[in-house]
Amino acid sequence: MLVNTPPMGWNTWNTFAENINESVICRAADRIVELGLDKVGYQYVVIDDCWSERERDPKTHKIVPDHIKFPNGMKVVADYIHSKGLKFGMYSCDGVRTCANYPGSYDHEFLDAETFAEFGCDFLKYDNCFKPEHFAGPVLYRRMGNALRQCGRDILFSACNWGAENTWAWIRSTGAHMYRSTGDIFDSFASFAAIAKSQVPKFAFSGPQCFNDMDMLTVGMFNEGHVARGGCTFEEYRTEFALWALMGTPLMLGCNLETIKPEVLELITNRELIAFNQDPECRPAYPVQVFGAPDGVPDRLVLARMLADGDYAVGFFNLMDHEANMHCLFEQMGFPVLSGYGLRFTDVFTGEDLGLKQELLHLGKLVPHSCRVFRAHPEKV
Ligand code: GAL
Repeated sequence: MLVNTPPMGWNTWNTFAENINESVICRAADRIVELGLDKVGYQYVVIDDCWSERERDPKTHKIVPDHIKFPNGMKVVADYIHSKGLKFGMYSCDGVRTCANYPGSYDHEFLDAETFAEFGCDFLKYDNCFKPEHFAGPVLYRRMGNALRQCGRDILFSACNWGAENTWAWIRSTGAHMYRSTGDIFDSFASFAAIAKSQVPKFAFSGPQCFNDMDMLTVGMFNEGHVARGGCTFEEYRTEFALWALMGTPLMLGCNLETIKPEVLELITNRELIAFNQDPECRPAYPVQVFGAPDGVPDRLVLARMLADGDYAVGFFNLMDHEANMHCLFEQMGFPVLSGYGLRFTDVFTGEDLGLKQELLHLGKLVPHSCRVFRAHPEKV
């Protein structure tokens, strides 16, 4: 299976956690289509933890869907999602139990992969709780990677071991198509800012067939749902979505699609941000300015990224709690003054053309936790 750009979709966990059932999933699929999210690339509908009975079937040893939550089984759910033109994702774990204490796939990897294929599953998120300590993570992820390759169906392998055991160093070798690189996200500015900052130096280890996954977005949750920790302002959600888009991490939505606000819908369907995220070359974003943090990732974060069509994505993120002056020196991007080139900046949110700039773009002050993001086009001056 080829996964050439970061996967996009929606996952149950952030909003619903254990409160999932057939109608929650099918309604999410309906909403993806009603809201036009499928038209801009969101395609996976993923059921996270808590979908099965507490124990395996004693005779077949298979994992069985919870008969109250999913009275018609999983194939019916998969068929419904497929009828909407979308893809169906499920969840398991490399340990003996899942994180929420349902059966895990440890020592049942090949049987479970076959079961997921029978359900009509297209995506498997694979967690890391209750893993026997004597087993190395790479071996267990390779087991499931092999099982999925042998199961007779194309199933995207979404590893979720939270960056443990230096995931980035070996995860590509397991067949995983994306890999969670951090602990869980919560719905607060501090949570998503810390996650993004921690991964800025790691994006050289992300690319086609295996993407660094900074977790499901909390954008638009406004402190409702399972991962609520105070919530964010709309301005902060803009910053989160822009960071995820520019950094080229999978765009898995986590907010409630029934109650989504119009401005959130506009944000998550921003065509320029999605184009950056889905850029065919999948080049990593890199920090342009160090701003007094030579050994780390600064809170005044300027990220740039080379795009396939010759343009650049440039984002200015003020992750500080106070106003900050922001600028970008083109020398840092490899465009010295003597190159004879300047950059023309177009704001991805407003469409405003800042004109052709030489040597640097001085943006002035950004309010706390906000961002500005541009497409920069090189032109001879
Ligand atoms: C965590 C995982 C979350 C969610 C949860 C389910 O380990 O990082 O994204 O899947 O388990 O219990």
